[in-house]
Amino acid sequence: MNRFTEHLQFYRQFRQRFETTGAVAPSSRFLARAMTGSLLTRQGPLRVLEVGPGTGAVTGEIVRRLPPGSRFELVEINQEFADLLRHRFEHDADFVKVAERAAVHCCPLQEFQTDEPFDVIVSGLPFNNFPPPLVEELIDHCLSLLAPGGEMAFFEYMFVRPLRRKVSQPETRERLGQIEAILQQRFSQHRIRTDWVFANVPPAWVQHLRMDEKGVSASPSERVDTL
Ligand SMILES: C[S@@+](CC[C@H](N)C(=O)[O-])C[C@H]1O[C@@H](n2cnc3c(N)ncnc32)[C@H](O)[C@@H]1O
Repeated sequence: MNRFTEHLQFYRQFRQRFETTGAVAPSSRFLARAMTGSLLTRQGPLRVLEVGPGTGAVTGEIVRRLPPGSRFELVEINQEFADLLRHRFEHDADFVKVAERAAVHCCPLQEFQTDEPFDVIVSGLPFNNFPPPLVEELIDHCLSLLAPGGEMAFFEYMFVRPLRRKVSQPETRERLGQIEAILQQRFSQHRIRTDWVFANVPPAWVQHLRMDEKGVSASPSERVDTL
C-alpha cells in the first residue's frame, strides 16, 4: 500500500470515528522505529501484541523486526482497519513473510484474552480521547497481558495533554487531569525510558514500560532524544 492511500484511508476513519482513531495521520516511520526498539534488543522467538494498529504504519516496522519463530497478534477495534490489515498480510511483501505467524483480531482490547502472556506490547491507543475509567482499564489490561520481564511501548503527542488542559472547558480539563494522574501512577511503577521523536506530525513521546520478573517494576526513568 502506498503512503498516499494509507493517509487517505486513515483520514477517512478519523472523520468517521474520531474518538477511537484519535489522530489525523498514521505514525511516521521514525515513530514506528522508536515504538519497536525492544524487538531489536530481545532474543527471539517472542510473543508480540500490537494494539490499535490502524492502517499498519507501526505494523510494517514490527513485521520487519520480528525475530524468527515469533508469534504476532494484532487487536483492532475498527472493522475497516482490520480488513485493510488482513489485506496487507495477503499482499504486502513484508507482511506476507510473517502472515502464517500473525492474526488480526477485530475487537476492543478490553475484550481480548490470551492463554499466554506477551514479551512485547506496542500500543497506538489514543488515551487522551477516552474517559478516565476506560484509560485505566486499557492500560491495566495491557500490563496484565505482559509476561514477567515483558515491555510495553505507547506514544503520546508531546505536551498535548498539558496544553489542552490550559485551553479546554472545565469538564475536559478535569478528564485530562484524571488521565494524567492514571498514567503518572503507572509511569512511577513501570516506566524505564521516554523517547522524544520530533520527526512525526505532531512530535511524540514514546513511553516504555517494563514488567519485572515478579510482575512489578520500579526502575528509574530516563529521557532519550531519538531525533
Ligand atoms: C492513533 S490511531 C494509531 C494507529 C497506528 N498504530 C499508527 O500509529 O498510525 C489509534 C488506533 O487505535 C484503535 N483503537 C481505539 N480504541 C481501541 C480499542 N479499545 N481496542 C483496540 N483498538 C482500538 C483505532 O481504531 C486506531 O486504529
